[in-house]
Amino acid sequence: MNSFIGKQILSIIRDGDYAHPGEEEAIELTFQEIPKDRKRLLLDVGCGRGGTAKYLHSHGWGHVIGIDIDEVSIKYAQHQYPMLDFLIGNVIDAPQLINHQFDVIYLFNSFYAFEDQLVALKSLRKVAKESATLLIFDYLDRGGYGQSPQVEEESPFLPHPLSLENLESRLLSTDWSLTSTTDITTQYEEWYSQFMNKVYLKRQEIIEIAGEDGINLVCELYGGLLEAIRGGNLGGLIVKARPRG
Ligand SMILES: C[S@@+](CC[C@H](N)C(=O)[O-])C[C@H]1O[C@@H](n2cnc3c(N)ncnc32)[C@H](O)[C@@H]1O
Repeated sequence: MNSFIGKQILSIIRDGDYAHPGEEEAIELTFQEIPKDRKRLLLDVGCGRGGTAKYLHSHGWGHVIGIDIDEVSIKYAQHQYPMLDFLIGNVIDAPQLINHQFDVIYLFNSFYAFEDQLVALKSLRKVAKESATLLIFDYLDRGGYGQSPQVEEESPFLPHPLSLENLESRLLSTDWSLTSTTDITTQYEEWYSQFMNKVYLKRQEIIEIAGEDGINLVCELYGGLLEAIRGGNLGGLIVKARPRG
């Protein structure tokens, strides 16, 4: 679902350019302790179609630069939200691609997709101010998901969800220091349940762009996520960290 069509389907279901659960409620929850200041610089890592960057910018959190490996999504974001900066690139190349130091670096449901999360964290540290905040909003493997993961076209649907077991040590080894974790599994369950209701309501629209196979895939993957959450294997987590002193 990280293809452009995949994200297009998600944005139809979610009424906005979002490919994370909870849409604007999730952004408000993640940013509730982050001061609003238009002079601050934010980096949206794995920004997709740019909806989150636009929301944060227009609600006064600061200027946002978005980076994503998917060229089609970035071209869409550049066209749709010209007041912001979006660039094509792999997170691991951020220090070479971006000549700025950021106040806030955030990731909405993109960290789980990174092939090498440790290299990604090291790269992000290099573009963080000493006073920066790192925010990771993502899936949490609560213990059983890794044993029976879902598969999309022979690859794991969620390749690397967060795990509380190694989180702190992985952050420390990449020069970050864990500030807090907030378990949002209850919210994930509610959001995915609402999501499945919307899939049902927007069935025709989804079939128009993705066909019967497309809607069946959405039902299988996201219905499966909801089952995994209800079964206690999967959840959601907000991680807050700062540069290691
Ligand atoms: C589920 S989407 C989330 C998009 C966006 N954050 C949102 O909430 O709408 C995950 C995004 O991560 C991007 N991504 C995956 N691996 C990446 C990488 N190595 N570097 C940059 N972006 C990546 C994908 O292209 C995709 O747009």
